[in-house]
Amino acid sequence: MTTTTTAETLFQPVTLGAIELANRVVMAPLTRMRSGAAGIPGDLITEHYRQRAGLGLIITEGTYPSFDSQSYAGQPGIASDEQAEGWRRVADAVHADGGKIVVQIMHGGRTSHPDLNGGRRVMAPSAIAIEGELYTGAAKVPFAVPEAMTAEEIRASVADHVAAARRAIDAGLDGVEIHAANGYLLNQFLAPGSNHRTDEYGGSPQNRARFVVEVVTAVAEAVGAGRVGVRISPQHERQDAFEPDRDDVLATYGTLLDQLKPLGLAYLSLLHGEPAGDLAVELQRRFGGKVVFNSGFSTVTTVEEASELLRSPFIDAVAVGRAAIANPDLVARWQGGHPENEVRADLFYGGGAEGYTDYPYLPKA
Ligand SMILES: Cc1cc2nc3c(=O)[nH]c(=O)nc-3n(C[C@H](O)[C@H](O)[C@H](O)COP(=O)(O)O)c2cc1C
Repeated sequence: MTTTTTAETLFQPVTLGAIELANRVVMAPLTRMRSGAAGIPGDLITEHYRQRAGLGLIITEGTYPSFDSQSYAGQPGIASDEQAEGWRRVADAVHADGGKIVVQIMHGGRTSHPDLNGGRRVMAPSAIAIEGELYTGAAKVPFAVPEAMTAEEIRASVADHVAAARRAIDAGLDGVEIHAANGYLLNQFLAPGSNHRTDEYGGSPQNRARFVVEVVTAVAEAVGAGRVGVRISPQHERQDAFEPDRDDVLATYGTLLDQLKPLGLAYLSLLHGEPAGDLAVELQRRFGGKVVFNSGFSTVTTVEEASELLRSPFIDAVAVGRAAIANPDLVARWQGGHPENEVRADLFYGGGAEGYTDYPYLPKA
């Protein structure tokens, strides 16, 4: 295949489980912290996502499934019916403009803090704090030392994920993505650096993968596997979720994907810096289903990179982060070879319309 034909592939439809995408340019999940203290998506968020309905699929910003799991000021939740109603308005607006949208369900685990989650407990696989500080919206404070979850709390968290997924589907979203990447709760279970447990949820790769398998399986049973994706980021080492041993990474994510494979999920979202490297290829092969790929934070995803990724026989779509922030009409720009707006990173988090809904469209021809 030539580059031209793979670039064209980017703009071809693809079906991920029960979700039909008009093209393979997927909006990556992007935390923007504009949902206020109540965590209810309002008009501003609705407008932001509506503007981006031309992407093949929108994956929302990380959204908390239970109030204790909030990790950012102004983060939206899907822990209550009021929050789900906010998401219903977002989904209705995206659908009216021909788009598709899934909500990323993100339990923060030890990235949460009592100053963010209303004084609730902070829970994680083990009582190990992240080094450094987090911003609570009012001040910088040291990360909390979490409490190690009991087996009962693990079961309750599985139920929280299921309840959040049901709310999303009932509110008309096209599906859910379970966030098992970037150092949040599920990744904390997978990573030996954050999981020092000695029960059936810690130690061996099989045991560290157990909680993620349980969450994804239960959510798939509840809402249908064809509406469920999962995001992983092996070796990404975010937020002290250290995974230093390559063989262990392969064993851990390998057993995870072996167990997810028979579920028939909509997709695997794989974030890895070496798309053509042995590890990423082996994991995609093990999963055997549709893959949405993103190569990480180092450089902004370009149309050339996205087209190149699609040359892989394993990759079906590309998750695009910062370029989707800066260009509401990204697909039209990429397809027509038009220049892109400049990304305004200082306006990523919090604030209002500036750097959020005011990025210009291409002038009408
Ligand atoms: C402002 C910002 C917020 C992000 N929030 C999330 C998030 O909520 N969930 C997630 O899985 N990844 C998140 N990411 C990672 C992106 O999904 C993506 O992997 C990253 O931006 C690299 O892709 P890019 O080079 O296309 O921007 C975030 C990245 C940025 C820049």
